[in-house]
Amino acid sequence: METKEVDVDAGRPQPQAIRGMEPQDIAQLVNIEREAFPTQWPPTPFRQDLRNRMARYLVSWHADRLYEPPAQPPLPPPTPNIILRWARVVVDKFTAPPAPEEPTELISGYVGVWLIAGEAHITSIAVAERFKGSGLGELLVLGALEMALDRDCTVCTLEVRVSNTVAQNLYTKWGFEIQGVRKAYYMDNREDAYIMTTPSFSTDAYQDLFHQRRNAFEARYGPVPRDFGLAPS
Ligand SMILES: CC(C)(COP(=O)(O)OP(=O)(O)OC[C@H]1O[C@@H](n2cnc3c(N)ncnc32)[C@H](O)[C@@H]1OP(=O)(O)O)[C@@H](O)C(=O)NCCC(=O)NCCS
Repeated sequence: METKEVDVDAGRPQPQAIRGMEPQDIAQLVNIEREAFPTQWPPTPFRQDLRNRMARYLVSWHADRLYEPPAQPPLPPPTPNIILRWARVVVDKFTAPPAPEEPTELISGYVGVWLIAGEAHITSIAVAERFKGSGLGELLVLGALEMALDRDCTVCTLEVRVSNTVAQNLYTKWGFEIQGVRKAYYMDNREDAYIMTTPSFSTDAYQDLFHQRRNAFEARYGPVPRDFGLAPS
């Protein structure tokens, strides 16, 4: 049977292990996104989103580890349509960010959040394959919720594939509930999405759940900073 090696020590969240995305992180985020969502194209325009006042990204990072660019960055996934395949190769060649010139910290995951009209929307979350199962997904959801609470949002919402039970477990743990279905939401296989939303942040019940979960997370993985170094929105 094939066994999966989990780099537990490297994945264990440490104090200060979450912060806002910086331009030098983008090459690593592109690779994590390609690995996590192999059928998603075009890629997320991380660079443009850095200038977008509504978009915020948090990354989990490792102060004691440096990023080593892969000799061969992951290629876009194959597609049966040859014209689309070549278009992808060309577009990716010209849009993929180069690996940072200076040594930079290792990034293991990211979460993207849009803050619009008092609501937070988690647009994407992914942890690099070799770091999965060591609390980083949870750290990123915690960070996204903390940021939303901090900015006086009323709720947080997201879409998730109906087949993605791993992500649904994660969101349920942090109080998200299924509120509806978006039919054929995903373009690659026309899979439905569940809409998952937290209860109103202003309710005592949600405040209690959030603080309970935060305390349990810190007891299990160590302290999480309150300030992620993000510019105010
Ligand atoms: C979803 C994802 C971000 C979770 O990240 P992770 O770092 O592996 O998750 P964590 O270790 O923080 O686990 C947090 C919770 O998620 C759930 N979970 C994680 N791995 C799981 C698994 N293999 N099976 C079932 N539930 C799982 C559990 O509820 C877990 O809590 P627990 O440790 O108390 O059981 C990660 O699997 C990923 O990147 N997936 C690919 C991209 C993706 O699907 N993104 C979501 C798009 S909506």
